[in-house]
Amino acid sequence: MSKLNIGIILGSTREGRLSPQVGEWVKKIADERNDANYEIVDIAEYKLPLLGEADATEQATKWNEKLNTLDGFVFIVQEYNHSISASLKNALDYAREAWNNKSAGIVSYGSVGGARAAEHLRGILGELSVADVRVHPALSLFTDFDSNGKFTPADLHLTNLNGMLDQVLAWGGALKTLR
Ligand SMILES: Cc1cc2nc3c(=O)[nH]c(=O)nc-3n(C[C@H](O)[C@H](O)[C@H](O)COP(=O)(O)O)c2cc1C
Repeated sequence: MSKLNIGIILGSTREGRLSPQVGEWVKKIADERNDANYEIVDIAEYKLPLLGEADATEQATKWNEKLNTLDGFVFIVQEYNHSISASLKNALDYAREAWNNKSAGIVSYGSVGGARAAEHLRGILGELSVADVRVHPALSLFTDFDSNGKFTPADLHLTNLNGMLDQVLAWGGALKTLR
């Protein structure tokens, strides 16, 4: 069976964001497993305007084409006002079928591990028919980043990250049979 394609989606787009460091960490650990094709998918590169505010046919097409190549996702989620970022919500709203019947894991961060944002995302993923898995690495802004914003993850997150990836691949493979 061919390897699944898993997109590691960076949920924030602001200048100075922390998400690229977290995405790179996930990709490094994931690549060492050699069990799927993992790639970082940076929402910022797609320059999606707020949905409905401008003609974004070209950007929307490119975004949907990228999602169509993927069998599952790892969302890098940061907490903004107890929810997900507006840029991630906007990117989610830009596709429908391209999300459907795929699996997803969540890696979140915030003052309480980004837990509130992660739970909001789960509700949205249900509507998009994305099967989000239970295991969820939740990173602390206080202990997993230093005072300069450098990512210094505690070792304990490795177990959760690998457990989450195991579930994303298992469900991703099963759901592929539905598409
Ligand atoms: C508008 C805004 C709202 C935020 N609200 C919360 C919050 O409710 N809870 C929390 O834990 N962190 C909150 N934060 C802190 C962010 O989680 C933190 O800045 C994080 O690094 C943002 O992700 P990013 O660096 O990838 O953009 C907020 C940050 C911003 C910019």
